[in-house]
Amino acid sequence: MILGIESSCDDTSAAVLKGTQILANITHTQLIHEQYGGVVPELASRAHIEHIVPVVKRALDTAQISVNEIDAIAFTQGPGLMGSLVVGTSFAKGLALALNKPLIGVHHMKAHILSHFITHEGMTAPSFPFLCLTVSGGHTQIVVVHDALNMEIIGKTIDDAAGEAFDKAAKMLGLPYPGGPLIDQYAQAGDPNVYAFAEPNIPALNFSFSGLKTSILYFLKKEVTKDPDFVASNLNNLCASIQHSITEILVKKLKKAQQQTGITCIAVSGGVSVNRGLRAKLHAWQREQPQLSIHLAHPSFCTDNAAMIAIAGSFLLEAGITHDQKIAANAKLPW
Ligand code: KG4
Ligand code: ZN
Repeated sequence: MILGIESSCDDTSAAVLKGTQILANITHTQLIHEQYGGVVPELASRAHIEHIVPVVKRALDTAQISVNEIDAIAFTQGPGLMGSLVVGTSFAKGLALALNKPLIGVHHMKAHILSHFITHEGMTAPSFPFLCLTVSGGHTQIVVVHDALNMEIIGKTIDDAAGEAFDKAAKMLGLPYPGGPLIDQYAQAGDPNVYAFAEPNIPALNFSFSGLKTSILYFLKKEVTKDPDFVASNLNNLCASIQHSITEILVKKLKKAQQQTGITCIAVSGGVSVNRGLRAKLHAWQREQPQLSIHLAHPSFCTDNAAMIAIAGSFLLEAGITHDQKIAANAKLPW
C-alpha cells in the first residue's frame, strides 16, 4: 500500500494505491492563478502548505485506511517549481520519519509515463519496450521506455512545451489560464482547416513551437486591426485550427519515431494527452495501422495526479530503490 504525494506545480494531490489498484486519488487544483494568466510560484507554494494535510487526510479517509497501514511514501522530487516541490518533499520526509516507513523520491515526468500501469476500466498496460509521447505544461518528449526503470529520451522540444503552446495561444485569444482545456472545448464546434499557421521544420525527432506561436500572434494582430471583433466572431474556428496545428506537429514526430524505431506499442501521457483533437488523430492512426497498439490513459491520470507518483514509487520499491532523509527537492531533477 503506497501513499503518493504530488506538489510539483499548482495541484496538491495525494493517492493511495494497493498494488496497481487505486483506493483514493484526491487532487486540489489551485484556482488562484487563473486571474494572473499563469502559475505564480509563491502563491502556489503557500496554497500547497494550506492544502497538503487536508488532501492527504481525505485520501486516507477515501481509501478507508489508517496512516499506519501504508507500506511506503512516494513523492515528487522534481522537476517542477522549487517552492511547490519543497512542500510535498518536506511533508513526505516528515511522515516517513514519523511512521518509520520507506521514502521514495519520484521523477515527475517518468511518473507521467508510468501512469499507464494503473489498473482502470478501459485501460490496458503497454508492454515493454514502448514509445511514449509525454506532453505537459513544461515538457514535450518522445521516450523509448525499455522498462519501468530504463527510459531513453529520443526527441524533445527545443523551445516551448506543447502545453505551453496551447496556453500561450489561448492567452492571445483572451482566454484565462490554463487555456489548453478551453481551446479543446471551443475547437469541438470549429473547423480545423479554416486557418493555417507556420509549420516548423526541425531536424530529427525534436519539436519546436515558437514559430507557430509567432505565426499565430502576427496573424491575430493583422486580423484584429481590420476587424476588432475578429477573435470573438471566429473563436471556434481559431481554436480548432490552432489545436490542429499543435497536434499535427506532435503526431507527425511520433509517427516518425515509430518508423525509425520499429516499436509497435505506443503511449501518450501528460496533461496535453487529454486533448480530444490529439486523441482523435491517435485513434485514426490506430485504425489505419491495426498492428500498432496505441495506449491512452484515463484523463484523470493524464493531468497532474498523485496516483501516478504512487505507481512510479511502487516500481522503484519493487526494485529495492528507496531514499533516506538526505533527499531534497530538485526543480531541475535530471532524467
Ligand atoms: O501534465 P500537466 O497536468 O502538468 C505539467 O506537468 O505541466 O499538464 C498541464 C498542461 C497545461 O499546459 C494545460 O493547458 C494542458 O496540459 N492541458 C491541455 C488539455 N488539458 C490540459 N491542453 C490541451 N487540451 C486539453 N484538453
Ligand atoms: Zn505533470
